Amino acid sequence: MSEQLPSDDVETMLAAAVAAPSMHNTQPWRFEIDGHVIDVYLDGSRTLPAEDPTGRAMRIAAGAAAFNLRCAAESLGYGAWFGLAPYPEEPDLLARIVLEPTATRNDELRDLAQQIPHRHTDRHPSDAALPESLRVALLQAAYVEGAELIWLGETEVHAVLDLVLDTDLREIGDWHRRAERAHWVGGERTADGIPSSALGPRPAGYPAAVRDMATRPADRIRAQGTFESRPDIAVLSTAYDEPADQVAAGSALERVLLTATRAGVSASFLNQPLEFDDLRRTVQGLTHQPGHAHMIIRFGHSHSTARTARRAVADFLSKEQP
Ligand SMILES: Cc1cc2nc3c(=O)[nH]c(=O)nc-3n(C[C@H](O)[C@H](O)[C@H](O)COP(=O)(O)O)c2cc1C
Repeated sequence: MSEQLPSDDVETMLAAAVAAPSMHNTQPWRFEIDGHVIDVYLDGSRTLPAEDPTGRAMRIAAGAAAFNLRCAAESLGYGAWFGLAPYPEEPDLLARIVLEPTATRNDELRDLAQQIPHRHTDRHPSDAALPESLRVALLQAAYVEGAELIWLGETEVHAVLDLVLDTDLREIGDWHRRAERAHWVGGERTADGIPSSALGPRPAGYPAAVRDMATRPADRIRAQGTFESRPDIAVLSTAYDEPADQVAAGSALERVLLTATRAGVSASFLNQPLEFDDLRRTVQGLTHQPGHAHMIIRFGHSHSTARTARRAVADFLSKEQP
């Protein structure tokens, strides 16, 4: 099918795609559209060389954006075929989505599309444990996209929180990582990065079930909160660790997060140990399953309305496109 997509449909799908989570809200995607084919590329101008030197977090973000795109396409009545990191010789092409008028409707993706505007990272303390039925639903959501969501037991949760604290201490002497974070986090943000308003409270004690992203003096003295001592934490992992697996992990992440949002459940991330190869292996070991850990997710019932901004949709379209 070669005719161009209606511009309103393009706007709807790309707005959904860029609402996806990305590390430090860098929004490291760009899109090319040719007829009914939408390609998701890495934007090499929005890297995090200190904290994400291999581009893993960028590929996870691209997978999340591709999942939102598929949901939005379904809600507009298109069916979507897709391939993740389809050509090894084109490492920046992370997803190709081919839209077709659909005969078979995917009601689940349509339903999840409704949740896209409501999902956001919530770094506030939580108050109640998740029901077992929801834990199973989230596990299934990850599995459908080719990943595993592994719930940690109490001992493993404490081990992860200790690792999170160890990593924070490891970072204190790393000026490169601290400078990079200061560039993206804190203050007022109208297009990208994490504003001070989305940081949530400062933990009252350590280890804590939150990543304190603050770098600026004013953020370091913000109000304190007491985080849950037995948080609901799961590790998202894949069997292999090729670029396509990392993109799939991103799609699985977003499917899990939208499924949680629909159930009124919030999520935040404790990913700092995963940014170091040795600790990433330790975290995977705590799952007692083989594989490669991509995200450490804390689920809960906090109800913050803090939001992060996005750039204008036009900024994400490659310049050579009409
Ligand atoms: C790969 C990846 C890693 C992330 N790591 C963390 C983290 O360690 N701590 C955290 O609080 N948020 C983390 N985030 C969440 C981002 O900061 C968040 O998605 C971004 O600021 C956009 O905000 P939103 O999710 O509310 O839309 C991560 C997101 C991605 C995709």
